[in-house]
Amino acid sequence: MPTPQPPTLRQPRLVQGVRFAKSQKRFFEKAAHLGDTFQVNFQRRRWNVLTHPDAVKDVFTASPQVLHAGKGNEILATALGEHSVLILDEDEHMRHRKLLLPSFHGERLAAQAATIQRIAEREVERIPRDSTFSMRDHTQKIALEVILEIVLGTESTGEEHDVLADHATSTLEWIGKPFRLLPPGLLGPRHPLVRRMYKPVLDPLDESLYRLIAGRRKEPDLEEREDMLSMLLTARDEQGNSMTDVEVRDEIVTLVVAGHETTATALAWAFERLAHTEGSTEALHRAVTDGDDPYLTAVSQETLRLRPVLDVVVRQVNRPVEIAGYSFEKGEMIVPCIHLLHRREDIYPDPLEFRPSRWKDVKPGTYTWIPFGGGVRRCIGASFAMAEMEIVMKAVAQAGVLEPVGGDEKVVQKFITSSPARGGQLRFA
Ligand code: HEM
Repeated sequence: MPTPQPPTLRQPRLVQGVRFAKSQKRFFEKAAHLGDTFQVNFQRRRWNVLTHPDAVKDVFTASPQVLHAGKGNEILATALGEHSVLILDEDEHMRHRKLLLPSFHGERLAAQAATIQRIAEREVERIPRDSTFSMRDHTQKIALEVILEIVLGTESTGEEHDVLADHATSTLEWIGKPFRLLPPGLLGPRHPLVRRMYKPVLDPLDESLYRLIAGRRKEPDLEEREDMLSMLLTARDEQGNSMTDVEVRDEIVTLVVAGHETTATALAWAFERLAHTEGSTEALHRAVTDGDDPYLTAVSQETLRLRPVLDVVVRQVNRPVEIAGYSFEKGEMIVPCIHLLHRREDIYPDPLEFRPSRWKDVKPGTYTWIPFGGGVRRCIGASFAMAEMEIVMKAVAQAGVLEPVGGDEKVVQKFITSSPARGGQLRFA
């Protein structure tokens, strides 16, 4: 007997593609009436969307041989490259992940926190005290500077740093424009037309990165340096092999792309939601004055629940598997939907309310709070991002109490992230 397919969203492919590109959150909300598992169809392969924690658990505990995340993230391959940890699967993925992990060790985080604080405090000084501003402009600058200093190990005063920062910014701006992911989504990331489209923006970035890598390899203190680039250049896998220049380039671009836009957006949402929720910015200010760090953690957790920066994680079936009562064959796409899972009334009462207090003495569930994905593919920078969010919130709260300007902000799609439409318009009270 053929296994029934999950219910399918009945809309032309192009209409679904355009709606998805405009706002993933609204697109999924509109399809949610189909049930806990449903299909949407706008990519080259249809997506089986999962919104129940049991199904999410099946996905995150499945063997890396059964579900491939790299194949699921393929749409990013044009920009990130074929050797990115996000694009790889199975043994090669694990090799790269292990080479990256030491850079994210807890011990490293203490030193990185000092850098984040310095950069955050410097940028907060630049926020106007007597006029409206877009919080995202500032969190973007902080997150980019943080990632460049910590990943590349270049100083913000140096020329090399400024050239790289310019290339990175223009590349990120270019790929962040709406609909840039539509061509790789429809034609595939390796299609010659897609490559030609990305080339003019990637070439200058790659040139400056390869120059940086070559120069860094010659640095006499390479072994002692603690930036992520130097750590990657000196890291050895279990066979004693190091990474090639191309592998290092792809991981560096991955870290900059994955680690910057995401954190900047999460922070913009944190302040937007705080400012639009009665009494919350005052509570943040009080928590910072009283040294109540758990409150800051709760704000980050609640922000990432209600406004997850990424709305889905994607896996491709490599070996037949059963999930949520359906059988899936090789090649099918399995998509846990972070956005809909985080809005389940049975897990989060009054799910649309921004309520940091729901996290008081509550640990987020592995399969019910998944802004960083899960399993062997869980975001490698999750602790780093949470620490950065808390440090930046502290720096801003120390400068004063924020007020909202205008109403609740809509969600717009920026590259793969869901951002506040006006960037979080705020002013100091
Ligand atoms: C609030 C900020 C962030 C959010 C919401 C976020 C979210 C995610 C998500 C959803 C995934 C996919 C997980 C999966 O497929 O199960 C991911 C993967 C990843 N993230 Fe993050 N991320 C953030 C910050 C960062 C930072 C700061 C870095 C690095 C500096 C980073 C580096 C990565 C990498 C390298 C992967 C690929 C992991 C793998 O495939 O093994 N992310 N992130």
